[in-house]
Amino acid sequence: MPADRLLSPARHSGEIGDEQEEALLTGQHVDRKGQTGRGRGFFSRWKNPIIVTWAAIATIIILVFGVLYVRSHPVDDKPTPGAPNTPKAPPNTPTAPPNTPKEPKTHKKRNLIFMVSDGMGPASLSLTRSFRQFTENLPIDDILTLDKHFIGSSRTRSSNSLVTDSAAGATAFSCGLKSYNGAISILPDGNPCGTVLEAAKAAGYMTGLVVTTSITDATPACFNSHVNMRWEQDRIAEQQIGDHPLGRVTDLMFGGGLCHFTPNTSIGSCRGDDRDLIKEARASGWQFAYTHDGFKYLRMGKFVKFPIMGLWAPADIPYDIDRKDTEYPSLAAMAETAITALDIETKNSDKGFFLMIEGSRIDHAGHGNDPAAQVREVRAYDKAFEVVLKKIDEMETETIVISTSDHETGGLSTARQLHETYPDYLWYPSVLANASHSSEYMAKLLADFPEVTKSKITDYIKEELLPLQQITDADDEEIAKLVKTKTDGLSTAYIWADMVSRRAQIGWSTHGHSAVDVNIYAYPPELAKDLWGNHENTEIGEFLRKWLDVDVDSITKKLRKEGTHAKWMGKELDKILEEKEKSMGVGGKTGEVTVEGLDAYHGVHKRACMH
Ligand SMILES: *[C@@H]1O[C@H](CO)[C@@H](O)[C@H](O)[C@H]1NC(C)=O
Ligand SMILES: *[C@@H]1O[C@H](CO)[C@@H](O)[C@H](O)[C@H]1NC(C)=O
Ligand SMILES: [Zn+2]
Repeated sequence: MPADRLLSPARHSGEIGDEQEEALLTGQHVDRKGQTGRGRGFFSRWKNPIIVTWAAIATIIILVFGVLYVRSHPVDDKPTPGAPNTPKAPPNTPTAPPNTPKEPKTHKKRNLIFMVSDGMGPASLSLTRSFRQFTENLPIDDILTLDKHFIGSSRTRSSNSLVTDSAAGATAFSCGLKSYNGAISILPDGNPCGTVLEAAKAAGYMTGLVVTTSITDATPACFNSHVNMRWEQDRIAEQQIGDHPLGRVTDLMFGGGLCHFTPNTSIGSCRGDDRDLIKEARASGWQFAYTHDGFKYLRMGKFVKFPIMGLWAPADIPYDIDRKDTEYPSLAAMAETAITALDIETKNSDKGFFLMIEGSRIDHAGHGNDPAAQVREVRAYDKAFEVVLKKIDEMETETIVISTSDHETGGLSTARQLHETYPDYLWYPSVLANASHSSEYMAKLLADFPEVTKSKITDYIKEELLPLQQITDADDEEIAKLVKTKTDGLSTAYIWADMVSRRAQIGWSTHGHSAVDVNIYAYPPELAKDLWGNHENTEIGEFLRKWLDVDVDSITKKLRKEGTHAKWMGKELDKILEEKEKSMGVGGKTGEVTVEGLDAYHGVHKRACMH
């Protein structure tokens, strides 16, 4: 793998969230002007011919699926237990020892659904709740489905920074341990840690991952792979199909990210080498599904043969605000399909399933400071949560859902001071309702417009683009900025997002993550008592393994047979850091959880002013 791939993953994968995240993770400023690869990488995927190629292949796949069996899902008439509202606030005992499970040692068959709302902080909930009340004309006491199942909150710091990234955040869930920003289920000492998914598989559970970003992205990767740094997505993809010390550990993967599975010789690939992972995976029994037609053929889960990988996009699935239901499945539809299929498949087993479902792009909308896209992402996640509750009530097997976030993104606030005079107390959901596309999409439209005269581009913005967002009062300065950044996708997207944010009076403090506590939700709540109140994110990881009663430590032992920094875990961390120069976070790259350096001012303010 050429070094420059490691240094500039986005040049290939073109994921806006990733690159921003990387810049913020490393403290290295992304030079937007001088960086031609970035803009192209970001936009080229929109025109990606891979979609056309796979559409053709999907037709063949549909024929293959034609021989699949249909197993009807018996309807369970069990009365639905009324979902109790928020449980009484439990006494918060932060000094108490880790909770011991109260259940007897051998419990009956169980399922676990773990949902991650990547980058969703408490303000995202307020924003979306008010947005929904406004757009659907609901009373002020109408709340989101998530709101009804709130049980506590989680502290999110990583081993080396008070502000975590999604990799360290998901490692806390998968391994139940703190690690450094960028770690994919690897500990600060360079050793891999066994994950709840791997342990579940070893114990006889079926396992699955459902996401809206690349399946090789940090959150899903932490459950079924181990690499030193999150941007080693080629290596993650290899481990995910079974090139892993434990062999194949996953039975179902739905999401985006096809480009890491196709050889660099094929159109649309983002791999650094010519390995054809789809061919390899097929040879070892994987079923593949592509495009929305391939998804429809799964008949909401009744037509699934395992193991199955459904990758519906080269990288990210479009934001919900831009997504066409005829082109990409919703998170709720993917979740329902996965649950139904896993439930059918485990019908005659004494073990149930473990399924992780991620609303991945709430985080991306946070990075983009795009409130119009974010409220739709949170709504889509809330709808998926609703579907999960429905399935839990239908299924015979005892099932729990835990939903939480790895961290907050954007430093979102539901207020914004625009002028020096004391601000009015308000924000306007109507502005978000008026916007019909994400800022990412708007930037793409502008970039695709021919390079003609300035006045023609100005006319295009005024006559075609502004009406899409129903912005009627754009000033000359705003329009001039859009014209100037036309070919620089990230900058243009930031301007579009800022135009909406200002008019809605929504505030953001960063294009990166923040350290604010995030919420925990559960259903049924009485089964998640150990997570009531305020918890460290690692306690959520501990809860997951206890619920499934699986032995994660024995998995860790097996993974460590080849020792620290074994080749299968990707490039050695030290080598990566040498190349990248700067370490992640401020507390040092490796070692124990630290507070060293967290209190010191490092002159970042001054540095930032120089750009
Ligand atoms: C594709 O990968 C092979 C190694 O697997 C490498 O030799 C070749 O240079 C790569 N080609 C491109 C265009 O990156
Ligand atoms: C929403 O759009 C309508 C129609 O373009 C416009 O009249 C109204 O002012 C917009 N509302 C806001 C808050 O921007
Ligand atoms: Zn992020």
